[in-house]
Amino acid sequence: MSNQQPVLEIRDVSIAYETAVGPVQAVSHVNLTLDENSIVGLVGESGSGKSTLANAVMRLLRGAARLTSGQILVKGQDVYALSPQELRRFRWNVMSMVFQSAMTVLNPVMTVEQQMIDVFRSHRPEMSVREAHQRSLELLDMVRIDRRHARSYPHELSGGMKQRIVIAIALALEPSLVIMDEPTTALDVVVQRSILDQIKELQKERRFAILFISHDFSLVSELASRVAIMYAGRLVEVADSQGLTLADPLHHPYTLGLMRAIPHLSAEDVEIEGIPGNPPNLVELPTGCAYHPRCPSASAVCEREVPTLRQVGGRAIACHIFDPEKRGEFAHVS
Ligand SMILES: Nc1ncnc2c1ncn2[C@@H]1O[C@H](COP(=O)(O)OP(=O)(O)OP(=O)(O)O)[C@@H](O)[C@H]1O
Ligand SMILES: [Mg+2]
Repeated sequence: MSNQQPVLEIRDVSIAYETAVGPVQAVSHVNLTLDENSIVGLVGESGSGKSTLANAVMRLLRGAARLTSGQILVKGQDVYALSPQELRRFRWNVMSMVFQSAMTVLNPVMTVEQQMIDVFRSHRPEMSVREAHQRSLELLDMVRIDRRHARSYPHELSGGMKQRIVIAIALALEPSLVIMDEPTTALDVVVQRSILDQIKELQKERRFAILFISHDFSLVSELASRVAIMYAGRLVEVADSQGLTLADPLHHPYTLGLMRAIPHLSAEDVEIEGIPGNPPNLVELPTGCAYHPRCPSASAVCEREVPTLRQVGGRAIACHIFDPEKRGEFAHVS
């Protein structure tokens, strides 16, 4: 454990969307900490609240979304206490984000270099055009894109190249925290692999922290040193990725379900099974633990009480099975 200040502290954060059918509780009481230079993964099914949480960290919640509880600190700074001007500076210099629809973020009528120069010139006004130009070429080198593409327009580039450029731009001002929301989901497997390898390399060389968001459990557990698993807006488990194997039974039943759904080349005797049922409707969440209708181990207490994260064998798990006072309720679970 380091005694350094964490780069990101999410404290008891809840977020709701006001809708015609009532509030949609997209994120509920999430606590998560990222150390400097670490990669933490955030996994969960579609609609579990990953992007909503990421947008809240960047203070980019729009329209109907409201932060209804909690605090978000980046390098010790409360993101919601910044003035608009401070926030603008903070966003590129201290924290940045690669958006889920990253490839559509590039401006189609500007060359790659113009877009990079724009970032430097608007955030480092003291920088000369010549230096911004030079730095833009270096950013292309960094993500191994030929400098001749500086003059290309986005439509002239492949999906993988555009994604590399978006990542380069997010790193342009050397932030301490980069949130990557499904940065490779739209790409084919080979390109995805090469971009992930590059992200890993860049992170080692340039030392920044990444909150890496994906619905792909195996991808996240490979890339990140720690993984937070989200279900219906709540974290159900936060664990070191080495411990995320079926050989270790101390996990949330949802995590076990995710692990059983991964095809393993080496273990022929492990059957691949999906998790039966569907994620819940956030407008009418099940009572108690939101996972209980799908959980093979659920007991009556799971319908009544929301479990909170507790320390179990070096990880945090929100499941009544691990509460010594409720153990009697789970006599049916072997
Ligand atoms: N503008 C909105 N108005 C109302 N509800 C919304 C809005 N945006 C998102 N939601 C709801 O909030 C929940 C969380 O959405 P979010 O986009 O954060 O999920 P996600 O985990 O990022 O999903 P995905 O894997 O599909 O990107 C969803 O159930 C969604 O229906
Ligand atoms: Mg999302």
